[in-house]
Amino acid sequence: VDPRTTRQTTDNSPLQIFVKAKKKINDIFGEIEDYVKDAVEYMHEIEKLQAIVNKEKVKKTEEFVSKVHGIRDVLSRDHMKVAFFGRTSNGKSSVINAMLRDKILPSGIGHTTNCFLQVEGCPSDEPYLVLEGSTERCAVESVGQLAHALCKEKLSESQMVRVYWPRNRCLLLRDDVVFVDSPGVDVTPNLDEWIDKHCLDADVFVLVANAESTLMVTEKNFFHKVSTRLSKPNIFILNNRWDASATEPEFLDQVRRQHQERAVDFLVKELKVCTPKEAEERIFFISAKEVLQARLAEQGQTASTPLTEGFQTRYFEFQDFERKFEECISKSAVKTKFDQHSQRGKYIANELREVLDDIYSDAQKLKDEKLKQKKEVNDKINYTEEQLIIITQEMKQKIHQMVEDVEQRVSKALNE
Ligand code: GTP
Ligand code: MG
Repeated sequence: VDPRTTRQTTDNSPLQIFVKAKKKINDIFGEIEDYVKDAVEYMHEIEKLQAIVNKEKVKKTEEFVSKVHGIRDVLSRDHMKVAFFGRTSNGKSSVINAMLRDKILPSGIGHTTNCFLQVEGCPSDEPYLVLEGSTERCAVESVGQLAHALCKEKLSESQMVRVYWPRNRCLLLRDDVVFVDSPGVDVTPNLDEWIDKHCLDADVFVLVANAESTLMVTEKNFFHKVSTRLSKPNIFILNNRWDASATEPEFLDQVRRQHQERAVDFLVKELKVCTPKEAEERIFFISAKEVLQARLAEQGQTASTPLTEGFQTRYFEFQDFERKFEECISKSAVKTKFDQHSQRGKYIANELREVLDDIYSDAQKLKDEKLKQKKEVNDKINYTEEQLIIITQEMKQKIHQMVEDVEQRVSKALNE
């Protein structure tokens, strides 16, 4: 049983680490967006009533809205990117096709891939392709047509053609993995341009080597350049065409050991991108052609072909590579892509809290002041009231006295 077909129901793929993290961080930013919008609305509301919010603070908070919006936009486009490099005809396109379980990219003898090809998932049921600098969708019915379209266009080798393939036809594409196929590293003098244009945001690099020969200087040089631009890139080395070993079984183990040692040395001592133990998990001996044939036959797309000696072992090793690759790419992408976003999210939430705290303490101050004023007014009223009482009492006494006085005088006069 192919564990990857059972995945459809159980969904225990390591890629889910990225998919779930992406969903979660998206939800969090959705909440932050609501929170920032509420804050802006609230500030506009109190701005109308009171002088406690100054314009600067309102402006700052309004800017958060567009910032959060921008982050959400980038987030929705974030994906895991894997780029394949190696000499012409080593089988780069074949490896991608085997992983995608379909003949999507052109492959063949000689120099086949003549520009960069990016395969990514699309929601529609029909695949299409878009040339660099254009928005026009060109139809891709089959790989033959794709190759034909490329020849007709005569693209430069650094140019990129985007192939949009229905998500529902492939789990890797559904889970946001984007594949980049390249022309052979030996056919171009423009390696630096390639790295600048296509490699800086790649999460994983796969060096497709030819197990029939050995690692070449051009291949090594390319990865030396990559590792000067990126700190510790994740590199897998596939010794492809390992089916050729079936014809020379007497040397199989020795040849494998030779390739293994050279590949480990390259990753550990030359590039210094991993430890010897990690390197053991990054080097595989496979046959892309066989895997693709087997998978197409499994899906009933082609008739099954006779199996070469050792096929099963190579097939398992390919699946092992896929598993390790999925773990590596999803963990790496979560770290590099979401770490920055969560730092910025935290920063925005903190800044917003400070602004709201300031408003709160200003409001508190204003309230205290008003209370104080009220008290002073009350005190004055009380004093006036007391004075009034005193005055009226005094008046009463005086009037009383006057009346008494008048009475006395009147009765005295009457008596007299
Ligand atoms: P360019 O695009 O020209 O740089 O080549 P590529 O690296 O993309 O190689 P491609 O996938 O086109 O394969 C070249 C030829 O090698 C094709 O005819 C494939 O069928 C064949 N091929 C690929 N992988 C294997 C393999 O594992 N074993 C054998 N025997 N042939 C293979
Ligand atoms: Mg190719």
